[in-house]
Amino acid sequence: MNRPLKVALLGCGTVGSAVLRALQEQADDLGARVGRAVEVAGVAVRRPDHHPDVPADLLTTDAHALVTREDVDLVVEVIGGIEPARSLMLAAFEAGKSVVSANKALLAEDGVALHAAAAKAGVDLYYEAAVAGAIPILRPLRESLVGDQLSRIVGIVNGTTNYILSRMAETGAGFGEALAEATELGYAEADPTADVDGFDAAAKAAILASLAFHTPVSAADVHREGISTVTATDVARAAEIGCTVKLLAICERVANGSPTHPGDSVAVRVHPAMIPTTHPLASVGGAFNAVFVEAEAAGQLMFYGQGAGGEPTASAVLGDLVAVARNRLAGAAGQGPSGYADLAVRPMAETPTRYHVSLDVADKPGVLAAVAQEFAQHGVSISTVRQTGRGDAATLVIVTHSAPDAALSATIAALREMAAVRGVTSVLRVEGLQ
Ligand code: HSE
Repeated sequence: MNRPLKVALLGCGTVGSAVLRALQEQADDLGARVGRAVEVAGVAVRRPDHHPDVPADLLTTDAHALVTREDVDLVVEVIGGIEPARSLMLAAFEAGKSVVSANKALLAEDGVALHAAAAKAGVDLYYEAAVAGAIPILRPLRESLVGDQLSRIVGIVNGTTNYILSRMAETGAGFGEALAEATELGYAEADPTADVDGFDAAAKAAILASLAFHTPVSAADVHREGISTVTATDVARAAEIGCTVKLLAICERVANGSPTHPGDSVAVRVHPAMIPTTHPLASVGGAFNAVFVEAEAAGQLMFYGQGAGGEPTASAVLGDLVAVARNRLAGAAGQGPSGYADLAVRPMAETPTRYHVSLDVADKPGVLAAVAQEFAQHGVSISTVRQTGRGDAATLVIVTHSAPDAALSATIAALREMAAVRGVTSVLRVEGLQ
């Protein structure tokens, strides 16, 4: 008789409890889809008394003993963080269990070693839930699009920051006010650092870039800027040129031209940027996520949905769980990501970007020429210039063409020193403008 497949659940927070609920309430359907009954072997938590809804005989504080138990086939890791999640995953692989994880920080820091350990053991490591919650994006990159050449991925992969920026655009509020509202409504955590400073998005960008470009990319390779410096003025300036401000995770394959990276390389960055309101990502509001993919043959694709929350994230975990369970019954493991291309990671300084700059200047002959001269001296070509106001209150709004990021930031530093420039009132990168 075929014994049921047994699942060890590590962690029972928002996502873990939604996974457990589904495993219990949808057991028949999940079993039918797998081709074998799937049962919960145990639930490892730190404080069992905090989980009165979980049957007491399933709860344990000994996660290591649970993952290495002989009758356990599959492990779901929804603890998050680096340790003990990493040690538990490695122990699970060594004991021959496949793992489903939602742990973006761990995968972005140590994905190569974890995949190697899974491959050595002949088991699976799946983690669809680690990037953009419910949105299926990793399996499409790993499987559906693996025959294509990807050139670029631009994602809104952090709901907290998207909520804050959306509110700033809707209400004209500053960052602090919008963050306070997000915290009050539960969209931001008490310590919002991981979201607001872009760490969460950077980990997701590393995972996306690794899969898209068959190149190991870790979180440390990702240039990261958060949204705490985005001002109400930035958001207003964006609106004036038909744009909106979003925190973007951008992963792109950049052709040669860099002095230190003459071949193709990958550039991976997270920073706030203006995008035209006509861009599909501009309409992604509130706490929603979306990932925009550009591929040579497929063209443009957009994946949109809920990027966080117990049930949506559990949907991705359960999808992976069914996949790894099926693999196990077939006596096989799915193909892990490949790092064969092993492209260099291009430093931000050499990555081509475009800037939007707002300057308060005196409205006198020669000021525009002097400002333009600074751009020229740094090798930065100007795309558009607009002046508003007169006399003391004149404002110059300049959008550049693409140039190495270091040349653009050096231009801004030089502008700040110019006597004719009373203030640099807004600087943001621009993406997706013609
Ligand atoms: N904190 C994340 C967000 C969700 O705000 O989107 C989990 O990655």
